[in-house]
Amino acid sequence: MKAPRIIVYGLGSVGQRAARIAHQKGAEVVAAYMRSTQGKDVSAPELARARICTPDVPFRDHGADVLIMTHASQVRDIHAVALQAAKAGLDVVSVSNEAYDPFMPAEELGLMQEIDAAFRAAGKSFLACGVQDSFWYCQPLGLSLAAGRISAVTGECTADMGLFGPAATTKVPIGLTAEEFQARGHAIPKGNGIFEVAMRPLIRSLGLVEKGLQREVRPHLSDRDLLLKSGQTIPAGTTRGYVDSTVFATREGIKLTGNFYVTFLYSEETATNQWVIDGDPKINMLTQNFPGDDITAAVVVNRIPDVVAARAGVLCVDELPEGRYRHSLLAE
Ligand SMILES: NC(=O)c1ccc[n+]([C@@H]2O[C@H](COP(=O)([O-])OP(=O)(O)OC[C@H]3O[C@@H](n4cnc5c(N)ncnc54)[C@H](OP(=O)(O)O)[C@@H]3O)[C@@H](O)[C@H]2O)c1
Repeated sequence: MKAPRIIVYGLGSVGQRAARIAHQKGAEVVAAYMRSTQGKDVSAPELARARICTPDVPFRDHGADVLIMTHASQVRDIHAVALQAAKAGLDVVSVSNEAYDPFMPAEELGLMQEIDAAFRAAGKSFLACGVQDSFWYCQPLGLSLAAGRISAVTGECTADMGLFGPAATTKVPIGLTAEEFQARGHAIPKGNGIFEVAMRPLIRSLGLVEKGLQREVRPHLSDRDLLLKSGQTIPAGTTRGYVDSTVFATREGIKLTGNFYVTFLYSEETATNQWVIDGDPKINMLTQNFPGDDITAAVVVNRIPDVVAARAGVLCVDELPEGRYRHSLLAE
């Protein structure tokens, strides 16, 4: 196979990592997009042959095969770029959390259907993947093989807000009592929860039938004072973040819970991902030092051969071969 020619659309934390990994696996990064090129360091070796572009440069100029889309997550923010990529005859691997289960009931279903029609017409494919595919799909599915009987499946993951600099303290409600958290409306779920989207492909692959779901947002309280890198202290007993929780009931009586902690951590804590399969036997799998952005970038690159080989249109991981490591993108 010739070296795939790749456009990286969005050269931030995930996009830079994806460019590096794709290059290491033999792909040629032919273009990288960002909103503004001013003050950006594009000296990395994987960008040596890449044209550095703002969104006004057409995709057709690059003679590319695949576009890795890492600029945004919401379907409304990826819609125009996806349509342009389809028209330019590109296969797309995206990190959109919302498009991971593309045709679930959601406000943006109409936009997703337009994207699907454009990719079908172009004979090209679109997949959204990332942490969901690796840690929230392949991992629990693999673990389930060892279960004789399952009564409940619980996934818990931490997003460490301490990694995002001082601005992160304005993105999550910190320093509130549980009552203040409630009174200020933070307990009201907004949009589709990250596990609400991520659990359905898993439920389908386990052969279960969804019977209903409950979603809630709970305060995540500090049990002692928590000193942030910004110098700010979160007092004991107040919020250091929140937990976005989704609980699915299934016709088979198996309960599936996803708890996503968006929070600040104590110095001795690390971001973790954990699955617990209750039943016979009870099994768990814990990942510490959970490297979210590295995982996401590796998944989108490792999934390229599957997306290139797939049918045309918008895909979901549960219709693709189980994801796996690709040592080289030239091997297939
Ligand atoms: N699925 C998953 O597992 C997963 C995991 C992690 C992150 N994500 C998602 O991945 C996305 C990217 O995360 P990140 O941390 O890499 O973000 P980031 O560091 O903020 O980088 C975003 C990049 O995209 C560019 N960009 C933003 N809007 C653009 C537009 N309209 N046109 C062209 N370029 C645009 C930015 O350009 P400028 O620098 O010029 O602004 C920047 O290069 C987020 O939406 C996040 O939710 C998904």
